Amino acid sequence: QKVELELEAIEKGGFEHFMLKEIFEQPRSIADSMRGRVRADEGHLRLGGLRDYVDRLAASERIVIVGCGTSWHAGLVAEYIFEELARIPVEVEYASEFRYRNPIIQERDIVIAISQSGETADTLAAIELAKSKGATIFGVCNVVGSSIARATHAGAYTHAGPEIGVASTKAFTAQVTVLTLMALTAAHKKGTLSETLFRQLLAEMEHIPALVDQVLQKAEKVKEIAYIFTYAKNFIYLGRGLNFPVALEGALKLKEISYIHAEGYPAAEMKHGPIALIDEDMPVVVIATKDSSYEKVVSNIQEVKARKGRVIAVVTEGDEQIRSMVDFVIEIPKVHDILMPLVSVIPLQLLSYYIAVMRGRNVDQPRNLAKSVTVE
Ligand code: AGP
Repeated sequence: QKVELELEAIEKGGFEHFMLKEIFEQPRSIADSMRGRVRADEGHLRLGGLRDYVDRLAASERIVIVGCGTSWHAGLVAEYIFEELARIPVEVEYASEFRYRNPIIQERDIVIAISQSGETADTLAAIELAKSKGATIFGVCNVVGSSIARATHAGAYTHAGPEIGVASTKAFTAQVTVLTLMALTAAHKKGTLSETLFRQLLAEMEHIPALVDQVLQKAEKVKEIAYIFTYAKNFIYLGRGLNFPVALEGALKLKEISYIHAEGYPAAEMKHGPIALIDEDMPVVVIATKDSSYEKVVSNIQEVKARKGRVIAVVTEGDEQIRSMVDFVIEIPKVHDILMPLVSVIPLQLLSYYIAVMRGRNVDQPRNLAKSVTVE
């Protein structure tokens, strides 16, 4: 009752649903998550909450990331970024699996727990377990003073602001922002990243809110595509590299608010099974941006089209090659590969939102789901 009253008290700011408001808040929430931490022109990056742990992080030989749902997807993105920039091996685990499988955790390990609410029971239990084995625990939480934030040794808050919609949107991009800053901190300290690239990435990060804003301007176009696919029964989402976790996240968003069955896959895995599902009734969302796996993704699109699958491709602006191959394209601006998920996830959030609205679903409070899962 109390929670409901509080929810009602918070304005939707002119938007029809909290979820849409939160999607549109992302230029600000990403900027807020960098505020006071990044100054690209001065080559300045400082996460106050990790102040006493930067050496420890840079010297670590293994990072284990735990989380659930969307927070787990942010962890998968972070795995690519930490390994690429800081050359530290990373494992990403569902907190619920980690806590029950007697994991090998050593005192030198760093465990990063990601949680929007800071109250997820499995994530909290995973932290306690890792702590009991002597690991150093960092938190990436959105809710200040939450149980997980209090249980960690150090960390960095996401400054996404309150997230009301059950489907996590702005918390995800804030998590990825903060985890990228952590990886950059480790890489800079360790010396695995040139000063030039370090400064370039900081500058590109400062520009991300403006790029996200550009993608949000495409909302009407995404809405038109959503209208066409409103009554689809299944969806497949494909991506490679950093866009693979984005594919998982797009599929989760669609499932939870529209109740359409959706699967996310690394694009190359399709031929190991899911390709059998593809026919003219199967919409396939492919994140096919111009990055190091571009040519490979183009081949994957050809495989889908050869089986008459209907392809919605998220592409880099000006990509005529993919436009000529697929049914629909959503263009997004060019950005460094490392930062791509912050931009490429936006059209997928919008797509799931519009499909759910057109199906008449309760977007902000989907059936069977709670905003924070405090039971196992
Ligand atoms: C995301 O859209 C989901 N509602 C859900 O998967 C969520 O991310 C998960 O329950 C974890 O929550 P947390 O970040 O608050 O720990």
